[in-house]
Amino acid sequence: MIKSGMEDVIACQSDICRIEIENGRAILEYRGYDIHDLAKHSCYEEVAYLLLFGELPSKSELEYFKAELADKRELPPQIIGLLTHLPPITHPMVVLRTAISYLGSMDKYIHHRSYEKSIEKAKSLIAKFPTIVAYYHRIRTGQNLVHPNDDFDHAANFLYMLHGEEPSWTSIKALDLDLILHADHELNASTFAARIAASTMADMYASVVAATGTLMGPLHGGAAQKVMEMLREVAVPWRAEEYVKEKLERKERIMGFGHRVYKKTMDPRTIELKVLAKKLADEKEPKWYEISEAIAEAVYKLKGLLPNVDFYSASVYANLGIPDDLFINIFALGRIAGWTAHIIEQYENNRLIRPRALYTGGKNKHYVPIEERD
Ligand code: CMC
Repeated sequence: MIKSGMEDVIACQSDICRIEIENGRAILEYRGYDIHDLAKHSCYEEVAYLLLFGELPSKSELEYFKAELADKRELPPQIIGLLTHLPPITHPMVVLRTAISYLGSMDKYIHHRSYEKSIEKAKSLIAKFPTIVAYYHRIRTGQNLVHPNDDFDHAANFLYMLHGEEPSWTSIKALDLDLILHADHELNASTFAARIAASTMADMYASVVAATGTLMGPLHGGAAQKVMEMLREVAVPWRAEEYVKEKLERKERIMGFGHRVYKKTMDPRTIELKVLAKKLADEKEPKWYEISEAIAEAVYKLKGLLPNVDFYSASVYANLGIPDDLFINIFALGRIAGWTAHIIEQYENNRLIRPRALYTGGKNKHYVPIEERD
């Protein structure tokens, strides 16, 4: 018998991300650096550099990388036209993957997969993701575009473009940390999708579109938006246990709980996000965190499940003033660094990913011409 969902299958070798459970504690490292150290000391651009190049940058390398990203933030007018013409009810993740495809059509090196060209494409995508999301949001809500501002780093610039005002230090640090925590996670479904596409030697845009489409599902990045729906539905902490009980009785999933890899151990990203959610709750609106805590307690009591990375992200984003349907996009703003690093790694040491299926259908059937069938 095979385990469904490729559970525990080692599908490739990678130098990018280590997830291991050691003595009951989950270890998560990007290129050998512990996620808690990165969360404490790093910034998103430094982590993106680390994922792409394999080493931490020097001070001058980081400054240069930040400037390169800042330089690539603006969108070609055709993409702004696309964002304007898409129906305003289009989900921002559908917009993102459509815009990535369109960006590919404008890259004359789209089919070049050399290391140098791939790194250039990766930088461009990392830089442009926030602009696509912020521009589309402002267009669909009838607001003027706020163009990228070179004075701001990556996270600050996104909040500035989205809200049209200088973000607070607390909000900048919170989003920056969130992006670090979402930057990579080994062979999660979207990264695997990206690697499968890259293994056919598809171009980087196509591979990122595959990843973006995969991230959107509610069992993956789509969970954060669903968590927010749940927080709104529960509305007050004291209703959490009843809500969870009823859902479990109906055999429904509680979004933001459970994980394929972290079964009995807390996801290290959740530990960081919980602290962040509490900090924002203390400084801003406490309601969402309080309801989250009540739900987490009830789910653990009634089903023994732990919250995953998407759970506390919801109350963090709500306190950053991010609309619910942009939550998955925020995940993508972080994960694009990991996706592109994995695509490049796949290109560099490629073999087509083509597993087999255990056939369970009928065999050796006798073909009856259509005129002779009853
Ligand atoms: N709510 C209720 N029951 C659950 C949940 C949940 N969220 N997750 C797992 N279970 C139960 C499941 O019903 C099964 O119970 P039983 O043995 O009694 O039948 C048991 O736990 C094992 O579940 P599974 O489906 O075999 O676990 P999996 O490894 O295939 O699924 C998962 C992992 C993340 C898809 C699943 O936990 C889930 O659906 N969670 C809710 C969606 C979610 O939060 N997704 C975000 C995942 S983490 C970040 C990311 O990738 O974006």
